[in-house]
Amino acid sequence: MRSAIEACMEDSACAEVVVARLALYLQTGIGAAELAEIVLDTIPSVPRDADRLQEVAGLLRRNPGAFAILGATGAAVRHARDEDETDADVVTRLASSFDAAAAISGTASVQLASLGDEDRLSATTGEIVAWLKEQDFTGTSRDILDIGCGIGRFEGALSNSFNRVVGIDISSRMISIASERCAALSNVEVRQTSGLDLTEFDDRSFDCVLAVDCFPYLVLAGMAERHFEEIARVLRRPGWLALLNYSYRGSLFLDRADISRLAEAHQLRVVVNGENPFRSWDGDAFLLAHGGGTLPLAAGSDRRR
Ligand SMILES: C[S@@+](CC[C@H](N)C(=O)[O-])C[C@H]1O[C@@H](n2cnc3c(N)ncnc32)[C@H](O)[C@@H]1O
Repeated sequence: MRSAIEACMEDSACAEVVVARLALYLQTGIGAAELAEIVLDTIPSVPRDADRLQEVAGLLRRNPGAFAILGATGAAVRHARDEDETDADVVTRLASSFDAAAAISGTASVQLASLGDEDRLSATTGEIVAWLKEQDFTGTSRDILDIGCGIGRFEGALSNSFNRVVGIDISSRMISIASERCAALSNVEVRQTSGLDLTEFDDRSFDCVLAVDCFPYLVLAGMAERHFEEIARVLRRPGWLALLNYSYRGSLFLDRADISRLAEAHQLRVVVNGENPFRSWDGDAFLLAHGGGTLPLAAGSDRRR
């Protein structure tokens, strides 16, 4: 148990992320109160971790129900594939898994580190949106496609910063939650997709494509290459792809190598190569540009096609 705690604290991730990792990896049925005691008994490997251990224990003590919900939500989605599963089988299974996860907790199912709390989720969404704005990714004359939109948190947060926002997801329950959350936003459309390709969209129909924590499932299903090809097709020139987390293989080296290969094959240029600019989330951020234009762009410039 102590080695699991140490592994979950290996980098400088915030306490919420450590709690989410513990819920995901332990899966032993241990209660939050008991785990908090073990966390407090853990000797920090470096002195500065002492405060973080205290914070982790505090979160566990204050949120015992949430810890159980995180464990159940995480367990609903299996991050491995069976030998006899085809790529399409994996996509179908993931759609059902995310239906089940969203039924347990919509907020935890899109980000475990939210601890199932809407305010925490909004804070991280805000951090990610602020980063996208810093990169000049947003623009009120631009159209954006969000692949794997989940409960529609980015559709809500980005609707004022884009001309048109389209969110797609394989999970019918995610789409039904997203539809409800975005019902009042006239420039937002969310719809269920096959998860196999983007053939429902015309060539060059979006300025930007966003994929937050969705590519790990495309990689798992063997769909990453096909989606890179499709993203390159639906993007205008210039166009931008923000890809937050490429895989859950635990190797930034491998992720960078794959993205570099895919980018080259589909005429995309890597602008941000797997940085972790967020305080409340441990996602690796990649930003790619397609055709012409350089980033960052001049603030306030008009439609860039
Ligand atoms: C961890 S959630 C993230 C949701 C959202 N991007 C967010 O950050 O709030 C991953 C989402 O990707 C969706 N997904 C998985 N495979 C997909 C595919 N092939 N095409 C579209 N969506 C997919 C899941 O249904 C799930 O809603």
